Amino acid sequence: MGATIIGTGKAVPAFKVTNHRLSQIVDTSDEWIVPRTGIHERPIATAETATDLASAAARRALGWEAGAGLAPTETIDAASIDLVVCMTLTGDAIIPSQAALVKARLGLPNAVAFDLNAACAGCVYGLATAQSMMAAAQAPGWAGNHVRRALVIGVERMSRILDWTDRATCVLFGDGAGAVVLEWRDGATGIASSFLKNTDDEALTLACGKNYDMSSFPFGDEMVLAGEGPDATAGPQADVSRDAIVHDDHARAVMGSPFISMTGQKVFKFATSAIVEAIGTALDRAGWELADIDAIVPHQANERIIRYAAKKLGVPEDLFQVSIGTAGNASAASALMALDDAWRSGKLHAGDKAIMVGFGGGLTSGAIAFEA
Ligand code: COA
Repeated sequence: MGATIIGTGKAVPAFKVTNHRLSQIVDTSDEWIVPRTGIHERPIATAETATDLASAAARRALGWEAGAGLAPTETIDAASIDLVVCMTLTGDAIIPSQAALVKARLGLPNAVAFDLNAACAGCVYGLATAQSMMAAAQAPGWAGNHVRRALVIGVERMSRILDWTDRATCVLFGDGAGAVVLEWRDGATGIASSFLKNTDDEALTLACGKNYDMSSFPFGDEMVLAGEGPDATAGPQADVSRDAIVHDDHARAVMGSPFISMTGQKVFKFATSAIVEAIGTALDRAGWELADIDAIVPHQANERIIRYAAKKLGVPEDLFQVSIGTAGNASAASALMALDDAWRSGKLHAGDKAIMVGFGGGLTSGAIAFEA
């Protein structure tokens, strides 16, 4: 306990794509998208890099730039940031990490920086990881890094991994970044509990492959399909075919594709049970009751998932921050963007008890209970 959110910020691309605009690209309509998802428009990065978005969100969270949902009460010195964690699926590069790019852009001389991929539950995993590093450093005799202030950022350009001819997925996602500054405060509650869970996604209901360029790979003759002997057609997909997870044509196709694929109804079923389980477990671990909670900030995948959770938990829908209408699903960035909105709209106030909850590919799920 003691890891407290002292600043929040978000940044979204300037270009917005409405449902009507999408209906000119694929066979869809506002009438189909809104009732099923709650999405009216989504920001899409046409000019901004992930580093631009993440750095802008971070500058607001640090109080270096106006526009924070929660601005820190004091100026944050760049040298006081010990850690940068970036949760992303769609950063600007594999090397350097997105976090390293942001650290360099912002000029944070003492921060250690790394990325974390927990898909759409990234916000929760990132905050829980930073909190764990802070808490570990409190142990007597601790001989590792001392983390007292961390910048935790979710950033996505989901537009880069969408098949813009696939109406089942391209209407759902958006781009953006959300950031928080987390500070260890002796005696403060801050993050009171966390719950992280992984459920095997054997059917690959939510997947996006990696398309390595294998054109210079000199060992094609040696490549082996899982259990099938030498692969005479070694090429870009051959690397994927050796992966233990690939055991059928569906898996081979999705793991060999650079685009997101999703079996919507199965993911919906997973998400609705995962969100309820994660909220309940984080509450139990904190020793809090649902009635104590002033706000819930969920991953923004679908407004119907949020409504389902409210009904199942027996709480009013307006306990939940809903930002998806103008954001779409920005994966690892979405709950942090929603957190910034919750502060700005007055849904969250200092001293409130709140939950952040996420779920996504992997399949990942989790929640943190925290005092604002
Ligand atoms: N526009 C118009 N029609 C569409 C469409 C679109 N954008 N996308 C799919 N359809 C069609 C389908 O082709 C299907 O047509 P058919 O009945 O002729 O075959 C029909 O709409 C119903 O498709 P279905 O996939 O069953 O819709 P759904 O009611 O399950 O809604 C989702 C689809 C994606 C909105 C919903 O399944 C969902 O939200 N899933 C969870 C998504 C999620 O949370 N993802 C992220 C997790 S981090």
